[in-house]
Amino acid sequence: MKLYVANWKMNKTRTEARAFAGELGARIGARADRVELVLAPPFTALDAALDPAGRWALAGQNLGSEGFGAYTGEVSGHMLAEAGCRYVIVGHSERRRLFGEDGSLLARKLARAREANLIPIYCVGETEEERDRGSTDSVLERQAGTLSQDPPRSPLVVAYEPVWAIGTGRAATPEDAAAARARLAGLLSARADLRLLYGGSVTADNAAELLRVSEMDGFLVGGASLDAESFARIAGLGQRS
Ligand code: PGA
Repeated sequence: MKLYVANWKMNKTRTEARAFAGELGARIGARADRVELVLAPPFTALDAALDPAGRWALAGQNLGSEGFGAYTGEVSGHMLAEAGCRYVIVGHSERRRLFGEDGSLLARKLARAREANLIPIYCVGETEEERDRGSTDSVLERQAGTLSQDPPRSPLVVAYEPVWAIGTGRAATPEDAAAARARLAGLLSARADLRLLYGGSVTADNAAELLRVSEMDGFLVGGASLDAESFARIAGLGQRS
């Protein structure tokens, strides 16, 4: 089953999240059993984005690297799980780049996610400079190495998100996404339950071709997930039922 994750980043109030959930529910009707949908709203809108009918799951966009305690501003894995999350995004490039999150911190976050029974959606991807230098493969290898302590039999989602493609309108070519998919599948061949996603300027117009050629298991979608119709179309649930 393909997996489509909506990463809203720092967008949508509770009121806006409720409106989105209502519209998405109306669009997909009862048909969401053909695909797996996940919404990753801001923490404050988790309950507003929850579907009582269970047609989509929730993800946190981030979690604290410690279990609990005096860490002002942090939200723990257990808090996310109790708030209804099944997944949590770990190591998004915006966290790495803007908030200085590195491999050792991310390894601790992965461990906290597992303690809370959350499935990590672990993000990897090279910057434009790294790509121009020809170091895409070594970057993916280093970032995948952060998973070395993560239990290999537990379900894991890894999203390949080239930094130069995020929010730029310049998606990777389907062939580049296919190459990254093959590379990551090789690096993570010991994993028993792995799904690989592509992320970076996915839209309703490029999704079908990207998915077909890259053979990815789905997408992590930013900008185009803010609109319920656009997100439903990306997931192949275009027509109102
Ligand atoms: P984008 O973001 O779809 O807006 O490029 C993707 C992401 O950051 O997950």
